[in-house]
Amino acid sequence: MIKNKKILSIILLILLGSFVHAQEQDNEVLQVIKKSYSTKYFSERGSVSEKALEDILLCGIKAPSARNSQLWRFVVLTDSPRTKTLLGKRVGNVSYTPGAVYIIVCGAENEPKGIDVDFDCALAAENMYIAAQSMGFGAHMYTSPVKALNTNLRGEVPLPKGYRAVCLIKIGNTDTDAVSSASPRNALQDVVEYR
Ligand SMILES: Cc1cc2nc3c(=O)[nH]c(=O)nc-3n(C[C@H](O)[C@H](O)[C@H](O)COP(=O)(O)O)c2cc1C
Repeated sequence: MIKNKKILSIILLILLGSFVHAQEQDNEVLQVIKKSYSTKYFSERGSVSEKALEDILLCGIKAPSARNSQLWRFVVLTDSPRTKTLLGKRVGNVSYTPGAVYIIVCGAENEPKGIDVDFDCALAAENMYIAAQSMGFGAHMYTSPVKALNTNLRGEVPLPKGYRAVCLIKIGNTDTDAVSSASPRNALQDVVEYR
């Protein structure tokens, strides 16, 4: 009996040790986030498949939201003559690239008390941005087209009733490598304070 207890304790200690070890190891999620960057040069080669797009959107709706309110809608512009005409003249600084898709993240206009719709939309947007990069796509988040999308472009790009654009994510193929395109960040010691 005592021998069995000893063996059990040793097994538990080994399991705990490997669990802690796993927590301290780099994993795929960490690597994707650390390597992520806003793609500046999208390639005209290839496209984003329907399946890939659906997976990206599923990651968007998986984002947490205040009181699980999910007051977001995603308007997708796939590659089409309409998208080409719309973005051919640029909206904000978003340009047209054949094969790329554009997700307009929209938030509810009537914000219930205690819920920050923009914050929730940003979480959904970030999930989709990281998901796309984890799949090998280039991705870039923009707010520069928001004003136009909410005003003079509403006729051309109808948004769901009661919703306004919060940001837009462009997803497509890219040839550039992450290192040469990454923007520098402030050092941890400059932005983190421990109390
Ligand atoms: C909320 C938000 C709005 C942004 N809007 C634009 C934009 O309108 N135009 C643009 O070129 N980049 C935009 N960006 C991309 C940022 O400029 C970029 O994330 C930042 O410079 C860091 O660069 P990196 O993502 O390559 O590391 C936006 C990013 C965020 C998070």
